[in-house]
Amino acid sequence: MTDPFDGEEIVASYAQPAEREMEASLRPRQLTEFIGQPRVREQLDLLLKSAQLRQKPPDHILLSGPPGLGKTSLAMIVAAELGVSIRITSGPAIERSGDLAAILTGLEAGEVLFVDEIHRIARPAEELLYSAMEDFRVDVIVGKGPGATAIPLDVEPFTLVGATTRSGLLTSPLRDRFGFVGHMDFYDPDELEIVLHRSAGILGVRLHDDGAAEIAGRSRGTPRIANRLLRRVRDYAEVRAAGSIDRTVARAALRVYEVDELGLDRLDRAVLHALVLSFHGGPVGLSTLAVAVGEQPETVEEVAEPFLVRAGLLTRTPRGRVATPAAWHHLGRVPSAGDGTLDLFGGRP
Ligand SMILES: Nc1ncnc2c1ncn2[C@@H]1O[C@H](COP(=O)(O)OP(=O)(O)O)[C@@H](O)[C@H]1O
Ligand SMILES: [Mg+2]
Repeated sequence: MTDPFDGEEIVASYAQPAEREMEASLRPRQLTEFIGQPRVREQLDLLLKSAQLRQKPPDHILLSGPPGLGKTSLAMIVAAELGVSIRITSGPAIERSGDLAAILTGLEAGEVLFVDEIHRIARPAEELLYSAMEDFRVDVIVGKGPGATAIPLDVEPFTLVGATTRSGLLTSPLRDRFGFVGHMDFYDPDELEIVLHRSAGILGVRLHDDGAAEIAGRSRGTPRIANRLLRRVRDYAEVRAAGSIDRTVARAALRVYEVDELGLDRLDRAVLHALVLSFHGGPVGLSTLAVAVGEQPETVEEVAEPFLVRAGLLTRTPRGRVATPAAWHHLGRVPSAGDGTLDLFGGRP
């Protein structure tokens, strides 16, 4: 099965492998360059400034929110603002607790340790983090069975920055050890327009306001998607429009890449089409729906559905998936009598 998070979908919210380098060049470097998320930004600003006044590393920081909203960027900004270096790892990359012990004992005073996807860290490693976060100490177990001994090792004071797309999966002992939790929200179109203008400047693309507005509106509230659409529209603009992006060029380009006005891509629309046209708006089970669009159920559930639900186009009921009236309208249809109208339990009244 293909990994739903490594898809080539143009509106995927996870970074595609070839994209990582490009993303690095578009990352904001300072808190003042970071657009949107005013609450998290102000809270972090206070946290960092007060820590600097006290000349102590700040509390551990947890950043939670959907992919592509700037968690990794913020982690790097935290280190940059503190003027310290950052060590980067991720929950799934820490296979044995010994790996983590080595990282922790190797930290220099004040450094930032960034653990991405921290909800996926293995339990023994997580337990090691508890004492490291709280007491700046780790117990390394040497040997096995009854002869095993715990050797306590000191860890330099450091700041852990954890990022998670699924904060609900974090255990409470881990969550409780973060002194600061920042919740990231989807961006408004006008914030995304600012992100786009900034990126266009870095990429050396001429982007007009109406072109930025057109791209922002189709970016699903996500800077990563906005930047990706910008690069694709730039390709089109260079070949067909002398490199300049206005509304007409953006629209024409996004038609080529099959991203519609709401930011739906080919798969999203296929799911809606099947739901509305083949199943009269549902309810229909996930696996049946997946067969109808020729995809794996996981792909439909994890790639297409989250945004369709958020956009108010699809609902999940105990009886299956249902198209909302907005979905019918988006496909240019009127919900037919009886279709889509369901009782509380997803059944037909
Ligand atoms: N607030 C922001 N301002 C400007 N660019 C942003 C912002 N948030 C994210 N980006 C852009 O989106 C891309 C993805 O951000 P990233 O920090 O990797 O997200 P996450 O770690 O939450 O998945 C980055 O390359 C960056 O250019
Ligand atoms: Mg990230």
